[in-house]
Amino acid sequence: MTPHLFQPLTIRSVTIKNRIMLSPMCQYSAIDGEMNDWHFAHLAARAMGGAGLICTEATHVAPHARITPYCAGLWNETQRERMKRIVDFVVTQGATPAIQLAHAGRKGSTARPWDGGGPLTSENGAWQTIAPTDRPFQQGWHAPKRLDRAMIAEAVAQFAHSAKLARQAGFQIAEIHGAHGYLINEFLSPISNDRNDEYGGGFDDRLRFLWEVIAAVRSEWPSNLPLFLRLSCSEWVEGGWTLEDSIALAKMLAARGDVDLIDCSSGGNDPRQQIPVGPGYQLPFATAIKAQAGILTGAVGMIHTSDFAESIVASGQADLVVMGRKLLGDPMWPLKAAKELRAQAVKWPPQYERANL
Ligand SMILES: Cc1cc2nc3c(=O)[nH]c(=O)nc-3n(C[C@H](O)[C@H](O)[C@H](O)COP(=O)(O)O)c2cc1C
Repeated sequence: MTPHLFQPLTIRSVTIKNRIMLSPMCQYSAIDGEMNDWHFAHLAARAMGGAGLICTEATHVAPHARITPYCAGLWNETQRERMKRIVDFVVTQGATPAIQLAHAGRKGSTARPWDGGGPLTSENGAWQTIAPTDRPFQQGWHAPKRLDRAMIAEAVAQFAHSAKLARQAGFQIAEIHGAHGYLINEFLSPISNDRNDEYGGGFDDRLRFLWEVIAAVRSEWPSNLPLFLRLSCSEWVEGGWTLEDSIALAKMLAARGDVDLIDCSSGGNDPRQQIPVGPGYQLPFATAIKAQAGILTGAVGMIHTSDFAESIVASGQADLVVMGRKLLGDPMWPLKAAKELRAQAVKWPPQYERANL
């Protein structure tokens, strides 16, 4: 029998050939938001290595929505065409191309990690960030401009525009980045949302921006294609967004039916967070949300062995195993895992078959 990790998953009209998803990972290597040969080689290699679902890094919906000046974006046709070349190649490897659509909010305008990280200085091209609040992420970071209604509508429209370009580029799955302290997460969390208008205050009002983004993306994203949402399922901070909040949101998402899968991450919205990092440390979120809300989930976070990955899918704890750093270091991991799990039907690319020793 084919191991569970290598069984296909069909969502709407899309069949993903196995349960391994390349987690979105910023490469900080785009110029003017345009992907280039680095991104081609990075995503192509992981498609050749057998991951069923190849997700781009956080791809930002506007210039000032980027985390760093070197982050990828999708707001114009040149960016779309650069991505199309990558998408077309990913498809030739039997993998499904996905795009993560993102807005960095008050965590934008930073330097890339190897330039020191942290907020950009004005000499290095700092820009005005935006957020539901005017309070910075932490002391010393840029003070964001508090969004008014017109600015909220503009950000929502930017998500729709990027979704339209993503469809034109041939992506088959879109993932909305609602995690890690970026704009959508900033609205969701009581820690970063101090508004008292219809976009803040109680739980339902803090969800409003997310609903508007989902509706805007869905208006451009065909109903036969899946839509994922990455959430920070816990902020790991007293008084912050909790797993219970995530479950409540997931139940609403399941009832509305626009979003098909929750990619269950955590943290990133408060520097006081205490994350108990270890193998599968976020898996309980994916399991609880799947069980209690009845929606598909992806588990991410230090899932590093084929046996562990297989057990997650086999036991029904999650539907997808989302892998970041392991695949960064070893693009061929899925093919090696197939061998370990004796998934005989999984074929190496013929060009590489002689490496299948
Ligand atoms: C270099 C790097 C870049 C990342 N960029 C993103 C990103 O663009 N979007 C996102 O949602 N998460 C991002 N993450 C988080 C990963 O997608 C993943 O959730 C995290 O690394 C935990 O999974 P892992 O233990 O398998 O690496 C990034 C992580 C790394 C290491």
